Amino acid sequence: MTERGLFVTFEGVDGSGKSTQMRRLAGALRARGEHVVETVEPGGTAVGAQIRAILLDPANTALGARAELLLYFAARAQNVDEILEPAIARGAIVLSDRWTDSTLTYQGWGRGLGEDVVQDLDEIACRGRKPGLTIWVDVGVDTALARAGARNEAEANTATRMDSQQREFYLRVIEGYRALAAREPQRVRRIDGAGSEDEVFQRVWTEFQTWRGQNV
Ligand code: TMP
Repeated sequence: MTERGLFVTFEGVDGSGKSTQMRRLAGALRARGEHVVETVEPGGTAVGAQIRAILLDPANTALGARAELLLYFAARAQNVDEILEPAIARGAIVLSDRWTDSTLTYQGWGRGLGEDVVQDLDEIACRGRKPGLTIWVDVGVDTALARAGARNEAEANTATRMDSQQREFYLRVIEGYRALAAREPQRVRRIDGAGSEDEVFQRVWTEFQTWRGQNV
């Protein structure tokens, strides 16, 4: 069976601006008449949203690293069956705010669980489905922490369980993204997240169009 849809993911440390950029790309593609499906990990489905609430609830201080890992993949497995595969089969461009690269970097690198266990679980949850393009919006740790902190302040009490991580944790996450981009340069494209929203979007758009031109 020939594949009609496209699967593109957005990645980056918290506060990188990836969610804003993904919305911009979705809008720009829809304006050109494309069929776009947006999803988010964790939380793209009704079941996933409940799992997300557990994962991000600051009260869940007892949640262990392995349980956390499995919950992220439980949400993703549901997304694959309910949203991703049907949308790809319909020929949509699926954009996902985070995917397994987040688990590689946050749980594999950040929590120190290693990449192998993450790759094994990905096989089970995603059944071989991988993104064709991953846009990694790269910002330094200080920018990321400042933006995430400002957002929590502005939105009053939105700090999540993941926000309580230390600077060293985010440095490991960023190191993980760097390693992924070096290992899979065709798929994982680094976008400089510095500058205005418009400036960053120009970079995202150029990267997407270039990739698409090579994949039609
Ligand atoms: P978000 O705020 O970008 O939606 O992401 C929610 C948080 O969950 C964020 O701190 C990153 C984290 N996360 C992981 O630790 N592992 C994962 O596999 C995913 C998808 C997210």
